[in-house]
Amino acid sequence: MNTVTVKIRPEAEKFTAEEDAALRRAGSIIQSGGLVAFPTETVYGLGGDALNRESARKIYAAKGRPSDNPLIVHICRLEDLEKIACRIPEEAFHIADAFWPGPLTMILHKTALVPSETTGGLDTVAVRFPSDRIAGRLIRYSGGFVAAPSANRSGRPSPTYAKYVLQDMDGRIDMIIDGGQVGIGLESTILDLTVSPPQILRPGYVTGEMLRKVLKEVDTDVTILGDGDGDGQAPRAPGMKYRHYAPAGELTVVEGSPGAVLAYINRQTAEEEKAGERTGILCSGENLCRYRADVIKCVGSRGDDEGIARHLFAVLREFDDEGVTKIYAEAFDTAGLGQAIMNRLLKAAGHRIVKL
Ligand code: TXA
Ligand code: MG
Repeated sequence: MNTVTVKIRPEAEKFTAEEDAALRRAGSIIQSGGLVAFPTETVYGLGGDALNRESARKIYAAKGRPSDNPLIVHICRLEDLEKIACRIPEEAFHIADAFWPGPLTMILHKTALVPSETTGGLDTVAVRFPSDRIAGRLIRYSGGFVAAPSANRSGRPSPTYAKYVLQDMDGRIDMIIDGGQVGIGLESTILDLTVSPPQILRPGYVTGEMLRKVLKEVDTDVTILGDGDGDGQAPRAPGMKYRHYAPAGELTVVEGSPGAVLAYINRQTAEEEKAGERTGILCSGENLCRYRADVIKCVGSRGDDEGIARHLFAVLREFDDEGVTKIYAEAFDTAGLGQAIMNRLLKAAGHRIVKL
């Protein structure tokens, strides 16, 4: 299959006639059962018709993803929610009011319209209403219901640029819409509203504190920052149980005071270089010039969580591009957006963490 890439200017107020025509073409590819990758405000998605079982099968095949891992259905109008979800609690409408369109996914009971292939056999459905204007227009031209996991091959970091979608999906999908770098860089927050109190299954840009301003009570899945199999508990979002976001090199997260972390990492990279490894360090800007390794990547300034979130997945992929075999990463604070950052970083490291 030949994968076509079309560019759409992300910042422009209005689409040009050519851009609109390209989005219409992309919509008709999805409506006729094809796959199109597109930008959202979180990460690039791999879109297919959410109401077509064949499209769901194609998405799993293109990603190399286990078919028990359900897809998120993306909508572009609030009134479409009740076509795919039923027994919707009042709280869901409050959450939609506050955070939609935006980087938040709700788990609700599904209607018969949604095929079980899309939901990985579950009787619930994940619904997201993205704010990205390219995504919104594409969903509209696709018939209103687009199933879209992150547009990476299964296990790889989610793509935050179209070039990384091409790296993983060239020849496997019909089209890629290149809308430049995405804004947030981490996938949406997932909130399960089929349980009481509602529970966060995946942390994201919309934090627990933000949700608690709208809901009386919000729980968090205990496995979010755990080691994945602690206490024998499986994460409640099926996708959270898989190794994910991982670079090819072995990644270790190091936690402790900045001085201790610096000394430990420099000692490790010196030893590993002697052993013939190609070493990498993922750090904040503060100690950048005091680290020693073959490849040193700064993800942002400590405290600038939005900057760190935006760069994290691209930096993990850059270590691969540079052939790094051993990577050390500083741990980050887990307050606010930091929880989502550490959740992704620890998963990328397969929960290999050194506490000093
Ligand atoms: O920001 C995002 O959410 C991106 C963009 C493209 O919208 N999409 C995304 O999709 O991250 P994906 O497939 O990579 O991750 C979806 C997660 C998986 O962990 C999956 O198991 C969980 O959502 N999920 C989907 N449906 C679910 C359901 N009915 N119950 C529990 N978890 C569900
Ligand atoms: Mg994903």
